[in-house]
Order: sequence, then C-alpha cells, then structure tokens
Amino acid sequence: DVEANNARESLYVVSQYAANYFASELWTGEQGRAIGLSYFKERGFREDIIRKFELGYSPDQWDALILSAKAAGHKEEYLERTGLSVHNDKGRVYDRFRGRVMFPIHNFTGRVIGFGGRTLKTDKNVPKYVNSPESDIYHKSNVLYGLFQAKKAIREVDNCYLVEGYADVLSVHQAGVENVVASSGTSLTVEQIRLIGRFSQNVTILYDGDAAGIKASLRGLDMILEEGLNVKVVNFPDGHDPDSYMHKVGAGAFKLYIENNRKDFILYKADILLKEAGTDPIKRAGIIRDIVESIAKIPDDIKASVFIRECSRLLQVEERMLLTELNKMKSARS
Ligand code: CTP
Ligand code: MN
Ligand code: MN
Ligand code: MN
Ligand code: MN
Repeated sequence: DVEANNARESLYVVSQYAANYFASELWTGEQGRAIGLSYFKERGFREDIIRKFELGYSPDQWDALILSAKAAGHKEEYLERTGLSVHNDKGRVYDRFRGRVMFPIHNFTGRVIGFGGRTLKTDKNVPKYVNSPESDIYHKSNVLYGLFQAKKAIREVDNCYLVEGYADVLSVHQAGVENVVASSGTSLTVEQIRLIGRFSQNVTILYDGDAAGIKASLRGLDMILEEGLNVKVVNFPDGHDPDSYMHKVGAGAFKLYIENNRKDFILYKADILLKEAGTDPIKRAGIIRDIVESIAKIPDDIKASVFIRECSRLLQVEERMLLTELNKMKSARS
C-alpha cells in the first residue's frame, strides 16, 4: 500500500544519504583519508574503482552518522529500520558501523539497500565484516554484491563470475573483468541464481581455494545446475581467493589463469573427489554416483545426456551404466 511504499522510499533515501556520508568521510574526513583511503590504496584499489563502487569510511565514533543524518533532516526511525543505527537495552542509540571501511550494497537497479563494513584492526576478536541486517528494503537472499556494476558486462560477455567477497569483486572488476558478483556472506541461494539468469545462462564459480570455498562451490554448482544454468569452476591454489591471487600474479596472469583453469563441473567434481578417494575402488564407484547425481539435477534431458557421455569418457565407465543410474535417480525423485 501507499504508506508502506512511502516508508520503503524513506529507507532508500536514508541509505543513499549514509553512502554519501561515508564516501565524503573517506575522501575529505581527516580520519577517513588517513585510515580508510590509505587502506584501500594499500590494497591496490584505484580511485576510479573506489568511486564506482561508492566505497566509504565510517568514523570511529558512537554517533557520527546519526548526528549528521539528523542534522540533514532524516528521522531516527529510518536509520534504525535500515539497521544503520542500533539501540541497546538501556535505550541508547548508536551507529552500527564505526571505524570501518564501507562497502555499500546496491540492488540491481543501483539503489543502496545495505552495507558491509570491514574492520581495519587485525585483532582476531573483532569481526572482520559487519553487515546490515535484513530490512524492508534489504533481503540478503535476493541480492548479489556488484550486480548493478556488472550486469551490462554479464549480458555482453554472456557469463557471470561468482566470487565470495567484496574485495574479490573489486579486484576482478578493476582488472577489466567486469562481469563479476559476490554472494557475500550468505551461502548462494536459488533467488540469487535466478537473478543471474536474467542476464546470462552461464556461471563460473571463483570461490576461495580453501576447504570452505571448495565445499561451497560443490553445493553451489548443484544448485546452479538445478536452475538449468551452465556452470564451470576455477580453483585457486594454496588457499588464495581471487583478490589475493590477483595481487600475487597480476592482472594479465590472472586472466590467463581463469581462462586455462576453468573446468566443466564434471571435471571439477571428478578432480576433487578422485583426489580424496585415492585408489580405493569402492570410493571411486561412489564418485561416479556422486557425479551422476549432479547430472540428474539438470532439467534439460538433452543437455544431461551430453554430460553423461562426457562423464563416461572421463571416468572410463560405460555410458549405458551411467544412464541406468541416472534414470534410477530421476525416478526416485519424481
Ligand atoms: N563475510 C562476512 N562476515 C565475516 C566474514 C566474511 O560477512 N565475518 C563475508 C564478506 O562478504 C566477505 C565474504 O564473506 O567478503 C568472504 O569472506 P572471507 O573470504 O573471509 O573474506 P574476504 O572477502 O577475503 O576479506 P578480505 O579480503 O577483506 O580480508
Ligand atoms: Mn519483506
Ligand atoms: Mn574464505
Ligand atoms: Mn576470501
Ligand atoms: Mn580476501
């Protein structure tokens, strides 16, 4: 209804105000320049990228944003409903983001709906990222970080790179590979995959090369297949994420790496699982079943049969056997 729409509009407005405030602190604030801007520069982010993604800095103060927003005529109620301010049980209201570099999160039409804030401290007891909570304008499961800045390139290149974090999006985008988004924080959802599907049917997963990243990529690829999209995966060595690998090897070598190490999901799964199984024949049989299970998720039967053939060639198993297994799984599910 009209009132709810007006309230939502107020949340968008106060969120954009906050983004502008954090950006102005970053570029012109004493603390912001000395701490925030130099942090981004030390991480190698160029000024044009810092501007394009509207990055900012939240002063290390209890109520810097609250005071500024109120002076500009914004209601405290809206700051709280976006989660930009929080109150404790004594009723004291303070800024959620303090002394952090700020990553505004846009919806795909470009409106600011939330924030991620990274600490500059190395103290392990401080959470590395603080994020906006869900609100009437921010539904995490429906949002991909960077999609607004990436959507044109995703359509043109007809592929979407999917990374884990904010810094990964910035580094890859800055290298000229602009078709990149992050699920940032939440594990990948069906809604996020459908959102990608509006721009391209092809997804390439570039998750962190650690145990958590590999596990998330296996889960993600099954979900992507289930939504009928095509999926490939690039694995990074030695626990690197796209951002750290970019810094290690440089933009040119990074692009070559993702071109040359982009694996079809079957090959990727087979590689990982075969490494785990070693020479144990029973474990190897389990892998075959595991891969066929992924293929069984593909809604398009013709596409699935192509992958069955590839799987047969790759694992040296008769195609007929794989097809029998595939049909068993499909009828078990329906
Ligand atoms: N994340 C989060 N809260 C945390 C840790 C992570 O929301 N406490 C989200 C952030 O969106 C982060 C992503 O998960 O970008 C990936 O986490 P991680 O790999 O740990 O962080 P990086 O993005 O690599 O962080 P950085 O490079 O800035 O150190
Ligand atoms: Mn809702
Ligand atoms: Mn990680
Ligand atoms: Mn990471
Ligand atoms: Mn990182």
